[in-house]
Amino acid sequence: MKILTSPSLFAADLLNVEKEVKRTEEAGADTIHFDVMDGVYVPNISIGFELLKAVRKVTDLPIDAHMMTVCPERYIHTLAEAGADIITVHNDIASTEAILEMIEEIHNHGLMAAIALKPKVEAEAILPFIDHIDMVLVMTVEPGFSGQSFMDMSEKIRAIKGYIGDRSISIQVDGGINADTAAICAAAGANVFVVGSAAYRSADMKATLDGVKASAEKAYNF
Ligand code: DX5
Ligand code: ZN
Repeated sequence: MKILTSPSLFAADLLNVEKEVKRTEEAGADTIHFDVMDGVYVPNISIGFELLKAVRKVTDLPIDAHMMTVCPERYIHTLAEAGADIITVHNDIASTEAILEMIEEIHNHGLMAAIALKPKVEAEAILPFIDHIDMVLVMTVEPGFSGQSFMDMSEKIRAIKGYIGDRSISIQVDGGINADTAAICAAAGANVFVVGSAAYRSADMKATLDGVKASAEKAYNF
């Protein structure tokens, strides 16, 4: 699988979003990670649909909406209209059956679907969805805040990589990612790297993303 970077806009300077999006493009990002939090599923409230629409107007980069909300199914149509390209929902937000329906609805809107697993969720939780998804998100922090310390999920990533086998499904990691932690995750099988504070707090975002990519490429042997 291709190694990709996905800066998490929630960690950007939100007073200057347009500039930050341009900086993200110029840094060579592959996609934009857009964290939606509702204060219920996670103890924080972040950014929403109107901002997503505004961001869509100023970039052609694919936008991945990471839904940390209850009832994400309510928002699939809105997200598609707002310009999302990928919708990521957490596995523990509804029954397996209901999540399979969400994945189908996401695909019916012509978007890619990903399933996210919090740190405490076991790798096997992905099995009911594996034939239906485009990406798995392995959280490397408890969802809710940017700037937290990385949690090593190598064992889980390795197990999921094994379940995926030769299917064309990416493994994304999110939380505390920088060049060092990206290498740890890539060695286990991750290929998409969400980078929040390490990217936006960097004076040279291109150097930071290039560094993440280079160290991940070096460590990824699949
Ligand atoms: C955490 C979010 C992340 C976060 C990443 O709940 O899902 O996307 O913004 O930020 P860093 O890279 O700073 O951990
Ligand atoms: Zn996220």
